[in-house]
Amino acid sequence: MKIFDSIVDIRSFIKAAKVEGLSIGFVPTMGALHEGHLALVRESKGNTDITVVSIFVNPTQFGPNEDYEKYQRNLEQDSQLCDVEGVDVVFAPAVTEMYPAKDSVVVKESALSKNLCGRTRPGHFSGVLTVVAKLFNIIDPDMAFFGQKDAQQVRIIEQMIRDLNFDIELKVVPTVREYDGLALSSRNSYLTAEQRVWAPRIYEGMQKVLSLYKAGEKDVSILRQALEAVLTGNDVEVDYIEFVDWKSFESVDTVNDGTLLAVAVRVGDTRLIDNIMFPSLSFS
Ligand code: PAJ
Repeated sequence: MKIFDSIVDIRSFIKAAKVEGLSIGFVPTMGALHEGHLALVRESKGNTDITVVSIFVNPTQFGPNEDYEKYQRNLEQDSQLCDVEGVDVVFAPAVTEMYPAKDSVVVKESALSKNLCGRTRPGHFSGVLTVVAKLFNIIDPDMAFFGQKDAQQVRIIEQMIRDLNFDIELKVVPTVREYDGLALSSRNSYLTAEQRVWAPRIYEGMQKVLSLYKAGEKDVSILRQALEAVLTGNDVEVDYIEFVDWKSFESVDTVNDGTLLAVAVRVGDTRLIDNIMFPSLSFS
């Protein structure tokens, strides 16, 4: 496995691979790798010849009071995990390599990012889109792999690929969960033992909503109440519970196939997000 920190070097590696006719799969990450990330890697390995994983804690997608400083950084351990999975290339640039001078061009999305995390984390999606566009331009992949866990991110990247004519096929991988339903996230490590016991309630609550829906309840206000009743606890604050159309990300009053339920909850200082699609658990 090769590890690059220089844009020039990874570009020449990719160019050589393309001359040989090899296809490139790309898995962008911020490191602190877990089984969720590795599911994307396995999907890439199954679909492409060369798998590139980027590991870059992107400062521009964190707000001033967010966890940029405390975000786990362990390149050695992450590289080992990648090596074991058969990743071909890790790209782990320094912040100065990705942002050498003060940027004046950014990518901004103006519709899908108005709600949910776009509202509660101003500037977040512009930071994500800008870094992903830069990474797409550096790595020039045939396919890119993203997790359903970050549903709004996936939808906005899908839109960017379309609107800015990136010649990249987007593949969405289902959310990988702990045995008790908690979606894997590097932020789970911030939870205290007590908070970790509480955290599976997010998935349990969403499952309850799903079973009510399957039993015929489609009214969002009733389904929302059912979820709110579960998402209570010591030092727990619901950031948002949103029922939106998966394509437009506009709120709906009545749940249908193609509605997304997205939830963000603060448990102590830790913000956890999760989502499910109606009626099933996978995107199409
Ligand atoms: P990060 O949070 O490291 O996530 C990298 C990828 O892993 C994302 O596509 C995310 O949706 C996916 N992922 C995370 N947890 C998952 C889980 N439990 N199951 C399945 N997939 C999961 O998302 C980012 O980094 C950044 O915003 C990035 C796209 C790299 C841009 O900086």
